[in-house]
Amino acid sequence: MPASRRTLFVTTALPYANGPFHIGHIMEYIQADIWVRHRRMRGDDVHFVSADDAHGAPIMLKAEGLGVTPQALVARIAATRPKHLDGFLVSFDHWHSTDSPENVELVQDIYRRLDAAGLVATRTIEQFYDPVKGMFLPDRYIKGTCPKCGAKDQYGDACENCSSTYAPTDLVDPYSTLTGAKPELRHSEHLFFRISAPEVVAFLERWTAEPSPGQALQPEVLNKIREWLGGGESGAAGKLADWDISRDAPYFGIPVPGHPGKYFYVWLDAPIGYLASLKAHLRGRGIDFETFLGRDDVEQIHFIGKDIIYFHTLFWPAVLRFAGKPYRVPDNVHVHGFITFSGEKMSKSRGTGISPDVYLDLGLDPEWLRYYLAAKLNDRVEDLDFNPDDFVARVNADLVGKYVNIASRAATFITRHFDGRLAYSDDERRHLVEGAVGAATLAVERYQARQYSQVVREAMAIADRVNEAFDDAKPWLLAKEPARHTELQAVCSRAIFGFKLISVLLAPILPATASRVARELFGLDRDFAWSDAGELPARISPYRHLMTRIDPRQVDALIEGPKAAEPGAVPPPAQTSAAPAAPAAATAPSESGSAAGGAPTVAIDDFAKIDLRIARIVAAESVEGADKLLKLTLDVGEGRHRTVFAGIKAAYDPATLVGRLTPMVANLAARKMKFGLSEGMVLAASGEGPGLYLLAPDDGAQPGMRVK
Ligand code: MSP
Ligand code: ZN
Repeated sequence: MPASRRTLFVTTALPYANGPFHIGHIMEYIQADIWVRHRRMRGDDVHFVSADDAHGAPIMLKAEGLGVTPQALVARIAATRPKHLDGFLVSFDHWHSTDSPENVELVQDIYRRLDAAGLVATRTIEQFYDPVKGMFLPDRYIKGTCPKCGAKDQYGDACENCSSTYAPTDLVDPYSTLTGAKPELRHSEHLFFRISAPEVVAFLERWTAEPSPGQALQPEVLNKIREWLGGGESGAAGKLADWDISRDAPYFGIPVPGHPGKYFYVWLDAPIGYLASLKAHLRGRGIDFETFLGRDDVEQIHFIGKDIIYFHTLFWPAVLRFAGKPYRVPDNVHVHGFITFSGEKMSKSRGTGISPDVYLDLGLDPEWLRYYLAAKLNDRVEDLDFNPDDFVARVNADLVGKYVNIASRAATFITRHFDGRLAYSDDERRHLVEGAVGAATLAVERYQARQYSQVVREAMAIADRVNEAFDDAKPWLLAKEPARHTELQAVCSRAIFGFKLISVLLAPILPATASRVARELFGLDRDFAWSDAGELPARISPYRHLMTRIDPRQVDALIEGPKAAEPGAVPPPAQTSAAPAAPAAATAPSESGSAAGGAPTVAIDDFAKIDLRIARIVAAESVEGADKLLKLTLDVGEGRHRTVFAGIKAAYDPATLVGRLTPMVANLAARKMKFGLSEGMVLAASGEGPGLYLLAPDDGAQPGMRVK
């Protein structure tokens, strides 16, 4: 293995600080963490950092809704980070925030340099303004009627009904989703980064073709870039539009120097947060930030998802390049696809996906998930599907059945008959060592190229060979014949050496298990390094249980189980959460204070948790194989339809339901049923006898209206 030691600055995308991590974040961290760990095992000097992306209008508005400052909201979310990062064995060296003094300083410095380079332009734009709220509206807070097809409640950029795209100003009857007010067009001066300037475009053409010597962006990423940048096969150059980097107050962000009332757009300050985090981290290590960045041999690598390629491969390198030294451009940007669930997009509201919080709370082993993801990850920008049955099968059959089992079987003989001593014949030593070093060298290349699925496949192929050789030798029979104990010791020693090799190969993926194997079984006082693959161990300590199989019921619980809080939900501050608990407990007995002999009294806050909405039944049909159910297609004014299975077939002919309005529980956790996903519940009255009666609002109610 080449001995050159690399110095790496590695980041993951900064998650928005308006909610706890979802499983997509965890997947990204695991991908990056595996990569980082394989470099550390080579002895590289790695600085692996990330941070909360704190700024922007959504966080400001969310905090306002919760009655807290944005800083307090961000702090609450930040407090939830360690549980997940530690829980999934993600080894960041530092976690920071974009709302930090380091970031303010860096952002303002970079802006001043871009301005001095003549790359900042001031232009007056027309933008929608909410006169009730007193703020300019980001596009996502404007809805209206599609100018092409007339569908109501469409977002300002595209119609979900007819798929046409347009500007918010094209909407018919636009309204602010914050207040319902009709927005007014107002003028405002904005600052633009002149990414279309010829020198910037020329730089981007060079950088995207070869971000640093010998490095290349992924082909899928390059294709995207060609669409944006023009050139290539399409031949249309100069399509890039200058980038609006300022926002008007009120905004939670970093002030633009010299422009009172203007703030930097969150996407300018977010990537600079990578540098802010690095700076805070290096200070902790006593390393000078500017000297570090200025070093020729430092490599800067970003891991991101496919939805933010534009920002990371065009804006970010351009901003860095034209800010000048000591800022350096990225050496590479590693892009991954999205995690999906049994083929469906992850969605909290529809209850698809798994919650990292629930995963950890149920006590599932983080290495199961790490292994499963690694077994499916490669260097392509393709989505990765989490399939519960496949998850159980791969972990149980491969990880535990093939790998962990080797140690538990072979070590027992070695401990019982040979007092822990291993033995190899002289002629096999070289062969074993050469094979192991070759496998480790290949694995390092695979990891470097993010071909984790290959590493896993090759490690499992080794496990198959080790198990086969072990079984063929029938050690349980050899153990009964003292005359053949030399053979027994050799067979078991080879198996243990194979186990050690696989442990080293999988160490970046299974850091906790590998660490225990290194220390407990092989008596090292440190974790494995790559060079350990070629060391023949002389003895082992008695085997201690390493990993259990997944009980499929745990996975059922994970999927059905306690639904995690809505992404933005945060526990209320301590004082207010304690207060309602006392009266609720006092009225707990269900008979007292209950209406019509039903459920116990609830506080108004509890009732307010139920989001009742008016729905229009767009379609209704019987469900094959279910004699009580109707499948309803509902329009709840969301710009998409929901499916709800309702047990009302006995009372209603589906044809009579189409077009009528009825209230529904819109925030009920979605439920996977045999027939499909049910995304809510309609309400019907019933008494002692037969008969079911759907509810109906008075005339004038519209789909999507809240019932309270
Ligand atoms: N705050 C911005 C990033 C700023 S980076 C300077 C952001 N945040 S995010 O929370 O929406 O996403 C963070 C990362 O998670 C992104 O890389 C994104 O691609 C990734 N993922 C979001 N959903 C995902 C999946 N379903 N699967 C895998 N990764 C996903 O964007
Ligand atoms: Zn339309």
